[in-house]
Amino acid sequence: MSRVLVISASPRRDGNSHILADAAMIGAHESGHRVDHVFLSDHVEKMLENCRECRQIRGGSCQLDDNYDTLLFDHIIPADGIIYAMPLHFYGMPGRLKTMFDRLFCYISKSAPHSDDVVRGLQNKKIGVLISCEESYLGATVGVVTQMQELTRYFNQDLAGVVIGHANSRGEVTEDPSKPTESAARLGSQLFYTRVTDYRVDTVRPNKVW
Ligand SMILES: Cc1cc2nc3c(=O)[nH]c(=O)nc-3n(C[C@H](O)[C@H](O)[C@H](O)COP(=O)(O)O)c2cc1C
Repeated sequence: MSRVLVISASPRRDGNSHILADAAMIGAHESGHRVDHVFLSDHVEKMLENCRECRQIRGGSCQLDDNYDTLLFDHIIPADGIIYAMPLHFYGMPGRLKTMFDRLFCYISKSAPHSDDVVRGLQNKKIGVLISCEESYLGATVGVVTQMQELTRYFNQDLAGVVIGHANSRGEVTEDPSKPTESAARLGSQLFYTRVTDYRVDTVRPNKVW
């Protein structure tokens, strides 16, 4: 049984991206995976500060007092796969989610306590991305999709799929004719079975791909 963490990153807990998150959770559950879910706003309140001055003098750990530690050690690191559900905010990920990534800095830098364990614990996960946004213009989501590609590359993770739903008012995503809720459910159920390939010209592989 694999563990899937679904992170709802919108400040709207009953919004469109959370509807996509719910669908992905149902898909993951139906495939027999253990599903864990968090609202990011329960864990990330503080912005990254200047780590050099901000971290605890004794021990060197992050001293920002919110629930980030719990998110990282009890939810993110134990997960085999993570699905990020987010609204598009000004052509990027919402600030709280960006802050979640920014604050990893304070846990993976060499001077942080247990940084080797954190670095190891972040790797080799399957990643899914669910985006809800108003604009259907393809360029609107290019930036955030590229950023997720780079982040997963950096953390040695596999980006298994991206689902984009078009919607604005609460709940509208269920009316998107491209049926993103169905795609999100499929992403949840197939997260660990989707083959992710990223060849180089000298990658050793059989000629027959499938
Ligand atoms: C601060 C803010 C910025 C937004 N920026 C964009 C944008 O750049 N492009 C877009 O298509 N929609 C944008 N939207 C609309 C949301 O992405 C859209 O309403 C989405 O469905 C909201 O998802 P949620 O209900 O999960 O929060 C923005 C909304 C907010 C609140």
